[in-house]
Amino acid sequence: MCGIIGIVSNKSVSASIIGALKKLEYRGYDSAGISTISNGQINEQKCTGRVDNLEKILFQNPSNGDLGIGHVRWATHGMPNQINAHPHSSEVVSVVHNGIIENSDKLRKEFEKKGYSFKSQTDTEVITVMLTDFLKKENLINCIHKTLEKLEGSFALGVIFKDFNNLVVGARRGSPLAVGYGHNENFIGSDSYALKSMTNKISYLDDGDFCILYKEKVEFYNSDKQKINKEIFELSNEDNIADKGDYKDFMSKEINEQSATTKKCINEYLDKTRNEINIYNLPIDPKKINKIRLIACGTAYHSCLMSKYWIEEFTSIDVEADIASEFRYRKVKLNPNDLYIFVSQSGETADTYAALEKCKKNKVKTCGIVNVVESSIARSADFVLPIHAGPEIGVASTKAFIGQMIVLYLLTLKIAKERNDVSVEEYTKLVLDLKKIPNLIEETLNKQKNIQVIARDFINAKGTMYLGRGYSYPIAMEGALKLKELSYIHAEGYAAGEMKHGPLALIEDGMPVVVLAPKDRFFEKTISNMQEVIARGGKVLMITDDTSETTNENIRFKFQIPKTNSTINSFLLTIPLQFLAYHVALLKNCDIDKPRNLAKSVTVE
Ligand code: F6R
Repeated sequence: MCGIIGIVSNKSVSASIIGALKKLEYRGYDSAGISTISNGQINEQKCTGRVDNLEKILFQNPSNGDLGIGHVRWATHGMPNQINAHPHSSEVVSVVHNGIIENSDKLRKEFEKKGYSFKSQTDTEVITVMLTDFLKKENLINCIHKTLEKLEGSFALGVIFKDFNNLVVGARRGSPLAVGYGHNENFIGSDSYALKSMTNKISYLDDGDFCILYKEKVEFYNSDKQKINKEIFELSNEDNIADKGDYKDFMSKEINEQSATTKKCINEYLDKTRNEINIYNLPIDPKKINKIRLIACGTAYHSCLMSKYWIEEFTSIDVEADIASEFRYRKVKLNPNDLYIFVSQSGETADTYAALEKCKKNKVKTCGIVNVVESSIARSADFVLPIHAGPEIGVASTKAFIGQMIVLYLLTLKIAKERNDVSVEEYTKLVLDLKKIPNLIEETLNKQKNIQVIARDFINAKGTMYLGRGYSYPIAMEGALKLKELSYIHAEGYAAGEMKHGPLALIEDGMPVVVLAPKDRFFEKTISNMQEVIARGGKVLMITDDTSETTNENIRFKFQIPKTNSTINSFLLTIPLQFLAYHVALLKNCDIDKPRNLAKSVTVE
């Protein structure tokens, strides 16, 4: 949510800033901007829309200078227009910001009284004004420190100063900021992905830290202005592979990668010689876990909901799945004998991170399931299980969802075995079945063409429903989320048995309805609910592994998934739903990788 870049170098930085902003565009794409120091002045240029627009402006009117900051915006305070775009500059300082300054109204009034005027409607501009004010009487370090002290809320900042034309300042509280080390140049960026083309050596600011980048060194300070040292991480080359290849967009690449990413993930956790899951040293002995609480947002929350069904099925542990934005403020009774699991692709989602911090403060045991292993959640949790999916760039999460489910399934089986909740024979069989998932996903991916045809039925729909029971219910919710975020069609995921308690009233002639009906113990009941929909004019897309002809009557389309053990057909049911959302959005000419109003990595509340 908003992307920041800052570079100090011994050569012109604007081309590198544009390159990094293009990588950061998945975090925000309402507007973009850049500031450099050239000829002793701050040179600020910004525009609405995408980084391409900014690039065109810079082509006409190049921005020189060997230090600068850049930003892509996801609007919080103020419309996405040119004035509200970042950077926000005064004569002496220019600022880019990710996050929300919660006391900005109060600060604005305070500084208006002092005679300052504001150009934009943003919360960020108060930072520019405060830095400008403190610079009149304080040295650089005190000016930064005093400004940060007055801010409430969350932020990552990049700042340049007219009169300090050899440095860039970065600061963090709540929103992530990475520092990259180059040869005669150094960088700050919202994530390591943006910095990867320039360096593979990275450090991370912790909450309250700020840093000063010079081209030959980086100084770090904590919230008490004490100089501190930072660990330097080396990024693996593998994580650099983040281009579309031959695909039209990142989303189709990421959907089609899922057989390979699940294979990689399973291989990372399965013992090569025995049918054993290599998950050891959990922060609580599995035998002593009283309860498991799974906490996440959006798609990641759906993976938690899925896992709730598995944990209930295979273990004797009580389990709950929670939405992080609710959990963080509820008076939840935290218990040292419970295990708190936080699931997040980015590892930076503000609500999930805040929920984790609440648990850490209360000294309960935490586990993070993340894709980005250098992320805040990964660094803060007591124990981390990576999903090994590789960079996910499309805003709509696909391969990360499947990866989260794989890891949660592995963890469930391991805990079940350690507690003797399943027999060794049953465990071995479940592990053997699990190994088949990548090939079964491949088989399902190969049926994409069937969904292309079906997608036409959805493009003019006012709304649609996704129905499932048991293991299929969380997948129905995820399918509906994918459709609404990508194609802007209203979609609801519902427990099929709940339809008659209200939502059935929505069904009208011609309404497309997706029914997930694998041949599990709920099959007959789901079919009855489907018939109730058909009887009221619903046009049903049934997704099933049932091969009998009897269910075909009155069903508009049937999509066949391969047969497998019923506890893992959720992986296969997910694939056609991803394709459906993708093809409907494609037919509606929606921006697949960057749906309106959304951004990857939600670092604001
Ligand atoms: C939907 C989607 C979001 C994310 C949610 C949490 O396709 O991607 O709902 O799942 O914002 O993000 P992470 O997993 O990064 O915590």
